[in-house]
Amino acid sequence: VISQMQVLKGAAGLWAFGATADDIIYITLPLYHSAASLLGIGGCIELGATCVLKKKFSASQFWSDCQKYNVTVIQYIGELCRYLCSQPVVSGTKVTLLVKKLLNVHAANHCIPTVAGILFFPFDLIKYDFQKDEPIRNKHGWCEKVKKGEAGLLISKVNAKNPFFGYAGNKRHTEKKLLCEVFKKGDLYFNTGDLMVQDHENFLYFWDRIGDTFRWKGENVATTEVSDVIVMLDFIQEANVYGVSVPDHEGKAGMASLILKQNTLLDLEQMYKQVVTYLPSYACPLFLRVQDKMEMTGTFKQQKFRLVDEGFNPATITDPLYFLDNSRKAYVFLTKEVHEMILSGKIKL
Ligand SMILES: *[C@@H]1O[C@H](CO)[C@@H](O)[C@H](O)[C@H]1NC(C)=O
Repeated sequence: VISQMQVLKGAAGLWAFGATADDIIYITLPLYHSAASLLGIGGCIELGATCVLKKKFSASQFWSDCQKYNVTVIQYIGELCRYLCSQPVVSGTKVTLLVKKLLNVHAANHCIPTVAGILFFPFDLIKYDFQKDEPIRNKHGWCEKVKKGEAGLLISKVNAKNPFFGYAGNKRHTEKKLLCEVFKKGDLYFNTGDLMVQDHENFLYFWDRIGDTFRWKGENVATTEVSDVIVMLDFIQEANVYGVSVPDHEGKAGMASLILKQNTLLDLEQMYKQVVTYLPSYACPLFLRVQDKMEMTGTFKQQKFRLVDEGFNPATITDPLYFLDNSRKAYVFLTKEVHEMILSGKIKL
């Protein structure tokens, strides 16, 4: 639910970055995303600037479009830059401004970044428990702020000046986004889902997204590090790494969903060698799932939540599943029998 006030605030975003009526703004993001609709389209209307609206983001057409339409401002969000950096360099574009709003979920609502990139919006960074995947509460039940230089969960106070109207028709989603009784009785905060670090000059840096790190055997596993190691293999197109719950085990066991390159086969022996060579044992994915197609979110992030929910049960998943059998030093088929032995504890993880 977006209020008029949020629309107006969002529309001031391009102006705050120094864009003018002479600018030509290239928008490739989906319009249901507030960065595109409020900041991009709203910002163009506010300035009286020109908007080049692309039906769908295309990395290969991006720079030639910028050239063709004399684009001066582009919007950046999520993984966009990573896709663009892998494109050949195009010279002679007029692009001078790259606009990112830092808070991608609640986006245009809160932040008024200065040219220097410092943010002025009501926020706090609180201590986060990776094991339980929730903010840490002290013995009195309150959350605690992190020290400078420490990673914490970015939250933003909800009040009359800074309202959050929730998701239309979805009370459960709305409630999941809110934290109550954070520092004192009756207070309410918006949970951005982003872990950030603030340095001594008060610059804020993105550290991780909740869900991109999980704990196994008391160690933090960064999913990106694991997938970076897997995609080094020449038969792997893409790897999406996440943690899944195993009954009677603390933390989350690593699982990798893989997309193979065309006309290649999954070489389990090489896969095993790769992970044990380049990763500490706690970070080696215990489960592999081979998919035909990677599901992406609207902003080009890998979709994880459904995969996490589906877990590693061969009775309900039709994709091929494999299990890292340490006793055999190999990845083996995850059959129903193996699955049962894991659940009953006959196979030790
Ligand atoms: C882009 O700029 C050039 C040079 O100023 C101009 O000739 C051309 O018509 C412009 N293209 C568009 C699509 O406006």
